Amino acid sequence: MMPLFVILVKPLCVTVCVLIQGAVADSAPLGKVCSLRSSFEPGFVAAGDYIIGGIFPLHYNQEMPDLNSTYRPPAVKCNGFDPRAFRWAQTMRLAVEEINQSKKLLPNHTLGYKIFDSCAYPLTGQRAALGMLNGPAEAHSPMCTGASPLLAIIGESGSAQSIVVSRILQPFRIPMISYFSSCACLSDRRKYPTFFRVIPNDDYQVNAIAQMLLRFQWTWVGLIRGDHEYGRFAVQGLLRELEGTGVCVAYQEMIPLLYNRQRVMQSSGAKVVVVFSAEGEMTPFLKDYMLLNITGIQWVASEAWVTASVFAGSEYYPYLGGTIGFGIRRGHIQGLKSYLETVDPQTYPSNPLVQELWGALYGCSSSPLFYSPLPPCSGQESLLEQHSAYMNTSSPRVAYNVYKAVYAIAHSLNNLLGCQRHSGPFNNKSCAQSNDIQPWQLQHYLQEVAFNIAGDEVLVSICSASCLPGFRKAVRRGEPVCCFDCVPCDTGKISNQTDAIDCTVCPEDFWSNTDRTACIPKTVEFLTYDSLGIALTAVAVVGACLTIAVLAVFLHHRSTAIVRVNNSELSFFILLSLMLCFLCALVFIGEPTPWSCMLRHTAFSITFSLCISCILGKTLVVLAAFTAARPGNNIMKWLGPMQQRAIISACTLVQVIICAAWLIDAPPFPSRNTLYEHSKIILECSVGSSLAFWCVLGYIGLLACMCFILAFLARKLPGNFNEAKYITFSMLIFCAVWLAFIPAYISSPGKYADAVETFAILASSFGLLFCLFAPKCFIIVLQPEKNTKQHLMGKK
Ligand code: TRP
Repeated sequence: MMPLFVILVKPLCVTVCVLIQGAVADSAPLGKVCSLRSSFEPGFVAAGDYIIGGIFPLHYNQEMPDLNSTYRPPAVKCNGFDPRAFRWAQTMRLAVEEINQSKKLLPNHTLGYKIFDSCAYPLTGQRAALGMLNGPAEAHSPMCTGASPLLAIIGESGSAQSIVVSRILQPFRIPMISYFSSCACLSDRRKYPTFFRVIPNDDYQVNAIAQMLLRFQWTWVGLIRGDHEYGRFAVQGLLRELEGTGVCVAYQEMIPLLYNRQRVMQSSGAKVVVVFSAEGEMTPFLKDYMLLNITGIQWVASEAWVTASVFAGSEYYPYLGGTIGFGIRRGHIQGLKSYLETVDPQTYPSNPLVQELWGALYGCSSSPLFYSPLPPCSGQESLLEQHSAYMNTSSPRVAYNVYKAVYAIAHSLNNLLGCQRHSGPFNNKSCAQSNDIQPWQLQHYLQEVAFNIAGDEVLVSICSASCLPGFRKAVRRGEPVCCFDCVPCDTGKISNQTDAIDCTVCPEDFWSNTDRTACIPKTVEFLTYDSLGIALTAVAVVGACLTIAVLAVFLHHRSTAIVRVNNSELSFFILLSLMLCFLCALVFIGEPTPWSCMLRHTAFSITFSLCISCILGKTLVVLAAFTAARPGNNIMKWLGPMQQRAIISACTLVQVIICAAWLIDAPPFPSRNTLYEHSKIILECSVGSSLAFWCVLGYIGLLACMCFILAFLARKLPGNFNEAKYITFSMLIFCAVWLAFIPAYISSPGKYADAVETFAILASSFGLLFCLFAPKCFIIVLQPEKNTKQHLMGKK
């Protein structure tokens, strides 16, 4: 038994080998992944940088294989060499050689090929496809070394074969281009995602045939088809087209794979017979028909046999003369005739196919290497126009398709290799690597290739170009599915493949990149030590240092008049609380944590309340001092230092109580705001209770207003140095800053709201520091002669 782990290690290789070659020998040594049990030799091979495959029905049919799978199946026996398909294969070789010589197309690279025979049989087509993937022997098996074996395949001819080959190639995402498979069934992109063709789909043909029947008023017709998808779908399509037109179908017949006898034709009166089949299966059927000597039938031929030259011979002419049908568009291939002439048994002595060609054309055997019942050739045989099955090059149709298909691959490959760095079509705008091109990458280019062959525009024929990653398809109302618009994904949604049907929503903490091709983690934003944060920190520190400096000056000059006259103790208090105000601005910078959130608003509100309470106390003292100067007024008795302290403490305590209630009931907490801007997660402190927040601010505002009113009343009192004037001014600034703060705070996004609050704290603190202390410092330091009691009282 093969050890299980081997399958797990190289599943791809095992699948391929087992599929083609059957079970692995019991004695397979450990580690040996698979062994080829028989090989399938290509008809023609050429080496090159990039290998493409070709599958052609070089024989009309094969002996029915023995499907008993209890022993190794014998080698395939193919019958009836087909010179027409041989010509197609030679056309592929010609195209590859032309491309290799071209200086414009793939200039520094060469194309190689492997051409296989499918014997017009799906199972053999499948073997050919697997043979291409596997290589001739294990040592050369590209699949087993993990390399990409083939970039693309040209093939197959019949739709039935193409369907099988396409299914085999799908897991490897190798694109294939068919030159003759016209079945409408192959247009299903979900079933055949890697299938391309250079021939129109049969919907057009059946529509044209239906119109023709109507035009000639042939209303009683027989339908005959081969036993394959091509025939089945074409007949279905024709019946659909004929529905309700008045054309009646006399009978539907199928030519069985193993031909026995036709039955209906002779008994039916239908004079017009439409046949969807190929020449190989038609031959026994026609022979039978000729034997019965039925004449007077108008044949309507499908594109598969209408131009087949086998039926042009005198043998068939009396029966098939007058046959009509729609042929495939023909083209011109420069140099095809002379190229075909180069193929002869002397040049290819060991190639059995070339020997068979000679056998088919001249009825002689050209090499003793191969057994043949035919008489030996003279060596004088030469290819002439009359050997039309092979040499008919006047109007290549299928051969022209083969030629186009090779060029389509070469042009796509050329475009792929010319991809501009950082603007490629793949993930993150990458390009394919020239030394490791994946077939699916080539497919991307195949989808949009457009080129010229001798002035002939070739096969982008699409309603809408495919949608790039970042976009999704939006089907247009009332139009076929091929016609769609490409709509960019909404923000927060992405599509990372071409032709996406829908955009996918990014997970919660992710957001779409600008191209909408990938989900990227949302940026987390908060006021941190970036340039803004550093600037605010610096201003706060400078403010605090300045306050300390003023404090030092005051302490040093504490015995001078200006310090003493204005209640020095309150001044020291104000300076200390101002310093705290500056410092509490720092709590707003940095990532919000539960503690910093709680600290932020409480620290700020309490220090500010303390500061303004002190100023209020001071204003009261100033006011009282002058009122007390009037006779009979002993108000100063009620405003001694003890009372002042009590007032300050009481005023501050109210704020402390509000804050305590806030912290206990609904404390501020850090929160992730994803609603404001979807592409960002804003880390902020949620206030917990807005009421508390506005109460705290309102209380500070109340204190400031009281202070302002009292100071305003006292501003005109006599004295050279009336502090009330400065207090009025400082309160004006304070109130202005905080009034401006409210709208700015409410309308600022994310981290800027914190920055605005920090700024307001710093601005108002600076306002207070300058208005209250700058004039005094000026006198203390620069005009000490004015620092006398007389001068201050306005008495000289
Ligand atoms: N258009 C046909 C198809 O798609 C052509 C064809 C090629 C064919 N080989 C054939 C049809 C063999 C029937 C049998 O199949």
